[in-house]
Amino acid sequence: MESREAVFEYIWILLIVAVIVGLSASMAYYGFARGLNPTCEAYTLEEARKAGISLEPGVREVGPGIYEVTIDARQFTFIPREVVLKDPNRVTFRVYSLDVIHGLSIVGTSVNIMVLPGYVAEFVWEPPKNAKGEFLVLCTEYCGIGHQLMYAKLVIERSSAQMAGGG
Ligand code: CUA
Repeated sequence: MESREAVFEYIWILLIVAVIVGLSASMAYYGFARGLNPTCEAYTLEEARKAGISLEPGVREVGPGIYEVTIDARQFTFIPREVVLKDPNRVTFRVYSLDVIHGLSIVGTSVNIMVLPGYVAEFVWEPPKNAKGEFLVLCTEYCGIGHQLMYAKLVIERSSAQMAGGG
């Protein structure tokens, strides 16, 4: 007959297996069924160059309300330091770093990404229709002694017509 200790061993093994299966199932559920995946794509600067993607920092309006924003994240600033978008519907951000790991978070929104040196982090943001005014953009990875100085500003301007129509 099994000793009392052995029974407890089996119970603990079962509990551990249950926790692992539960966590894996939860990740699979959110990833596949709910579509919650990393929103960000990453490719190297070299791949960007080969694909003909311009990495000139700045804002380009490529269609009505469709923007491409390229940001150079470096110790200890973002270039450009201020981004102004008029009635944005869809914004493709390309953020890259040449020195160390940085982060980019638009405070008060769901945007929060990591920028690895040598890589372009690309993601699409559809700002909520009621997003308006000034947003603080912060570096969220400790990148050196000036990390706390690394911030920028995002301004979303809404025309009254869109506010009335879009709600
Ligand atoms: Cu860049 Cu912290």
